[in-house]
Amino acid sequence: MEVAPENWINIGGRYGAALKEYSEKFPFVIHGLSLSIGSPAPLDWDLLRAIKAFMTEHNIRCYSEHLSYCSDTGHLYDLMPIPFTAQAVGYVAERIGQVQDFLGHRIAMENVSYYAAPQQEMSELEFTNAVLKKADCHLLLDVNNIYVNSINHGYDPQQFLAALPGERIAYGHIAGHYDEADDLRIDTHGADVIDPVWSLLDAAYEQFGVFPTLLERDFNIPPVHELLREVQQVREYQARHQKQAEYREECAL
Ligand SMILES: [Fe+2]
Repeated sequence: MEVAPENWINIGGRYGAALKEYSEKFPFVIHGLSLSIGSPAPLDWDLLRAIKAFMTEHNIRCYSEHLSYCSDTGHLYDLMPIPFTAQAVGYVAERIGQVQDFLGHRIAMENVSYYAAPQQEMSELEFTNAVLKKADCHLLLDVNNIYVNSINHGYDPQQFLAALPGERIAYGHIAGHYDEADDLRIDTHGADVIDPVWSLLDAAYEQFGVFPTLLERDFNIPPVHELLREVQQVREYQARHQKQAEYREECAL
């Protein structure tokens, strides 16, 4: 299960007790919303101290965040595109390093959707890979974001996926999006996952092996039994690839 720590830090009472009960029963990861790793403002150490304590309290397996920024002196509650420049690679990697040193373990950065690429010097792929390498951090692989970006910015999503460092994947996201126009998709998490995105997940498991994968759904939420069909589809993909991997291993013996 994944929760946004900002929604749960300092929540006590009935809700806090329920979260504690769940986090003792199920494996949990946290997906942050306001670290703002690319922000020109200093890192929010109060937030990081709270996150560190929250991770210990709830035995959190992984802290993931977005490779973007959402603030300067105030929060915009939106994910802004970090310029794909060498200077930004150095800046962001240094800040990820500070966070990792403070927490005592690696964090996972998510490839995000973006709708403008200001001051672009390199491709999204080059930028993402350079940050992961320089910061020595994990990747939260969002296959829907790859698909959305591939339409909006005109690249081949399968080629993009194949060029990512699979060994850095901590876990994955899959989601639906909004079809605004033939050349414009919006990453909404408000619709069913479409077939080309399922194909990307399939290709990711094939290339990198199976990894834990979370279905993101933020609104237009269907009845739970319908939603769980998509979760079931993730499980079926995972089981199939797991079986194939075991078979290949057996054959190699
Ligand atoms: Fe995501």
